[in-house]
Amino acid sequence: MAAPVTRVGILLSGRGSNMMALVEQASGYEIALVASDKPDAAGIGWARKHGLATFFQSPKGIPKADYEAAIDAALDANEVEIIALAGYMRLLSDDFVARWRGKIINIHPSLLPKYKGLDTHARAIEAGDAVAGCSVHVVTEELDGGEVLGQAEVPILPGDTPDTLATRVLAAEHRLYPRVLAEFCAR
Ligand code: GRF
Repeated sequence: MAAPVTRVGILLSGRGSNMMALVEQASGYEIALVASDKPDAAGIGWARKHGLATFFQSPKGIPKADYEAAIDAALDANEVEIIALAGYMRLLSDDFVARWRGKIINIHPSLLPKYKGLDTHARAIEAGDAVAGCSVHVVTEELDGGEVLGQAEVPILPGDTPDTLATRVLAAEHRLYPRVLAEFCAR
């Protein structure tokens, strides 16, 4: 009998290049929903064009609990089992994380536990690091603090700026995330 295919929901806020990599390299999982907190997120337009189920809910002007309840309902309606954050620029509440405990993963552009939070590439260059990279981790209540499931390294080259380094790391993200998500769904 074929192994069951895990239904994954993606939350994003922006261009969605990691979402595209997850869609294009899907194996052992399928993308059941792409949800955004921004109506004009480029990623949501791409997902729609590619025939994926999409959902948008603005967080503006409503309590965070109501906003998250709407996301939750859309995830449930699409029978999502695992959530993959892909450039989702909003902190999930402790309640939401608790409801989905152990079932939310994220990609972060640093070699965790180094450089949690923002401006990771500038901080790595500033520190004089020889390597940078990205990490896929389980989402917990602690920002960028959950179990690291996989990492990829890239060199930091002389003359690198945060932008040139970000481009190199992003290419590594697109290889790492689909592989680690597939492994996570299989475990
Ligand atoms: C990526 O650098 C990812 O590591 C971080 O947000 C960025 C999202 O980029 N969490 P994209 O929207 O997937 O292109």
